[in-house]
Amino acid sequence: MSPRDKTASRDGQSASGRNSTVLDIGRPVTPTSSTNVPKPRDIDTPTVMAPRPVPNGKNTKSVFIKTYGCQMNVYDSERMADVLAPIGYAAVDTPDHADLVILNTCHIREKAAEKVYSELGRIRKHQKSNNPDMKVAVAGCVAQAEGAEIKRRAPVVDMVLGPQTYHRLPEMIAKVTRETGDVLETDFDTVEKFDALPAGRNAKGYSAFLTVQEGCDKFCTFCVVPYTRGAEVSRPVDQIVAEARSLASQGVREITLIGQNVDAYHADGPDGSQWGLGNLIRHLAKIGGIDRMRFTTSHPRDMDADLIETLATEPKLMPYLHLPVQAGSDRVLDAMNRGHTYAHYRDLIARIRAARPDIALSGDFIVGFPGETDQDFEDTMNCVREIGYASSFSFKYSVRPGTPGASLPRQVPEDVKSERLKRLQELLYMQQREWNESLIGKTLDVLVEGTARGDGQLFGRSPYLTGTHFDGPEELIGQIVPVTITSAGVNSLVGSIAKT
Ligand code: 5AD
Ligand code: SF4
Repeated sequence: MSPRDKTASRDGQSASGRNSTVLDIGRPVTPTSSTNVPKPRDIDTPTVMAPRPVPNGKNTKSVFIKTYGCQMNVYDSERMADVLAPIGYAAVDTPDHADLVILNTCHIREKAAEKVYSELGRIRKHQKSNNPDMKVAVAGCVAQAEGAEIKRRAPVVDMVLGPQTYHRLPEMIAKVTRETGDVLETDFDTVEKFDALPAGRNAKGYSAFLTVQEGCDKFCTFCVVPYTRGAEVSRPVDQIVAEARSLASQGVREITLIGQNVDAYHADGPDGSQWGLGNLIRHLAKIGGIDRMRFTTSHPRDMDADLIETLATEPKLMPYLHLPVQAGSDRVLDAMNRGHTYAHYRDLIARIRAARPDIALSGDFIVGFPGETDQDFEDTMNCVREIGYASSFSFKYSVRPGTPGASLPRQVPEDVKSERLKRLQELLYMQQREWNESLIGKTLDVLVEGTARGDGQLFGRSPYLTGTHFDGPEELIGQIVPVTITSAGVNSLVGSIAKT
């Protein structure tokens, strides 16, 4: 039996109401929302924060926040809004007349970083014609990596702030509005940031990210993250529990625990022992109102037996795992400093599938890393054929200045990278479509997030994180609804409410 044949057998499982110890939380009615339908983790498409008024106050000023990159940035943008709300900033979804514009940036690939400068050009025009007092901030990983260079390239920018400093936004804004100078804040104190952030969240919708770990000590030779986010830091358990409770009390039903190496999470538990991610998940699962949990992104070196066991036994944990391998060749994995071989990854997947046979696997792949030969690339193709992925993210290697990969000999020509990416994506998208088609006829629990723009249908996510569309009344938004799948595409499913 191929790994693919073993999958998707636990459809229709309800995650709610199966835990015996429940910490109860009141659940208010949350307003309905309209959702466009992004891929579950499309880090190449920026998102704009939806309008959110200032709680219990007058909307005195407006802030436009545009987010590039990964979920960590999406989370950070929400926290920036939380920090700004008490000083009267309400989020708006257009920069045209905004008092404050924040671009929360990504430095992972060259293209992502360059997008910021073209956006700053557009922002300058809005400032000139609509609001000369508009303040402009560049936050996130480009800010951390390029610092003062940003201001030189784009004088419209007033504030440059790295990912560990946004809790100080109110002070920074005060400084620039008093015109006592520009702001450049690129400290690295992750612990100070989390201690300073408000414990409560101003949650919107029914599914939320919650950062439990940040930073990276792995130093993959292609990656800027260890330089832009700093060393691995895990947040204390009680801080995470308080934030999860705040989310639950506002109607959030699904929490995705996030971190650059989320499975490296470790902290002192309330029982005095060291807790890993498995322990944390089981603890958070006891919070009343939280019906579904996920975690991302994991590293193959950090998946321990307890976490695999938790995948098998915790009913609130959804059967979806993003576990990047990056490449299938041991030579390339070694040059990437991944710290694992392909055999290690394959054995790990076998253990995970034995524990949770219905798991939908997702991965990241890089083609054209320096020195990658045709045979190395074939090893990646063989890895994909052998493992079988339900979803994936694949990229051409992008040289990042300052990383070890940038100075390696035998950089792969652009046309070879493009050709390899095309072949790899054909295979991955075929697998993704096959996976989705294998769900036709099954009934899946869909957490309804809103209405899908364009087709007027409801939109939600299956346990496997697949975007799912179906007809139904808007009152179902925020509910977990059994949906029988009737058709499938590469990125989404269509179904109808299951007949009882
Ligand atoms: N070039 C291409 N892809 C990269 N990634 C990280 N750095 C680079 C780079 N320099 C990819 C990896 C990682 C994902 C978030 O982005 O696959 O897992
Ligand atoms: Fe980057 Fe590697 Fe750390 Fe992931 S594990 S953030 S790819 S250095």
